[in-house]
Amino acid sequence: MQLSRRNFFRIFGAGAAATATSGALVNLASAAMFEPPRSGSDNFIRLNSNENPYGPSQKVTYAMQDALVAANRYPYREYGDLTDAIATHHGLHSEQVLLGCGSTEILRVAAATFCGPGKRLVQAAPTYEAIAHYARLSGAEVISVPLTPQYAHDLDAMLAHTGQSEGLVYICNPNNPTGSLTPRKDLEAFLGKLPANWHVVLDEAYHHFVSPSAAYTSFLDQPARDERIIVCRTFSKVYGLAGLRLGYAVASKDVVNRMEPFITEDSINAIAVRVGVTALSDQKGMQEAIKRNASARQFFLDQAKARGIQAIDSQANFAMMNANRPVNDVVSYFKENKILVGREFPAMPNFLRVSFGKPDEMQTFWRVWDGLPMARG
Ligand SMILES: Cc1ncc(COP(=O)(O)O)c(C=O)c1O
Repeated sequence: MQLSRRNFFRIFGAGAAATATSGALVNLASAAMFEPPRSGSDNFIRLNSNENPYGPSQKVTYAMQDALVAANRYPYREYGDLTDAIATHHGLHSEQVLLGCGSTEILRVAAATFCGPGKRLVQAAPTYEAIAHYARLSGAEVISVPLTPQYAHDLDAMLAHTGQSEGLVYICNPNNPTGSLTPRKDLEAFLGKLPANWHVVLDEAYHHFVSPSAAYTSFLDQPARDERIIVCRTFSKVYGLAGLRLGYAVASKDVVNRMEPFITEDSINAIAVRVGVTALSDQKGMQEAIKRNASARQFFLDQAKARGIQAIDSQANFAMMNANRPVNDVVSYFKENKILVGREFPAMPNFLRVSFGKPDEMQTFWRVWDGLPMARG
């Protein structure tokens, strides 16, 4: 196992000073943006980045305030505390958990570890683009396979592209931007056929928003006996901590050891690493966020239906609807009206992704939509 500074302090305590392998860094100079700009103190309604519009729960907000006093210290010991808390939360060993500066860091590290020249990343189209971006930077070929007509991953077609000796499959479930599910039984069958040297990233960023369904079971709630799976989770969505930047991967000990050297040293800040422990344990706050989102989702789907608009049944905190026109025009129109909505996903150029905001924001969204020339579906 590579001995990172993070692990060093977990194992030997904060008294010793050491640095270790920093790992190969991908070239970020040419990094393209895969999410629209998120900052600014303007008056825009933000329905574009699948954030939690309410922010963290009260308990987590207090924990953030308490954590501020630790900002002058490197949080070496706390890395271990959060890793242990995540492991306990999921009934795992701590060696199976890897912390990231957002799950974006986990996606970058997965690409750095398992992609590279001569290798492939196989993913859906459309899907969340970050890992493809990092896979390309690593020199890998990226194959994007259209979703099925039910907006699930087309696992047979994806499998057909895994013939090479090594590579990575990215599966986002529920999928961003469609909010749709790929059934667990299909994923199990896919894993049974996947060539031995391929790894799979299962991105469960939107896991908490899935309505109870026989078709879906998280790979953390019910792990598959497969050493090649990397499950990603984030604190950016249900926990309302997108700005704090915290995510994690769960994988076999061996896979974590392979990925760990590519993590940026000390990339988790002192506030996030403390607050993460509180957020994980705050069941009440999480349930409230899930409930609020379910009602926002129902409102959105009802409003779309009332207008005869085709909306994809969502299992996330956003939904995609057929705007019946080039979506970039719609995005610009909303921007002129001080509302930020999702960007174009080239595989579905007429579909608009809308993140769910607060009730008044969603009322405004529909009022502005109705002002769009020929807005009805
Ligand atoms: C599917 C998916 N994975 C990962 C991320 C990145 O999340 P984080 O804020 O944890 O970096 C996002 C962000 O929107 C996402 O939609």
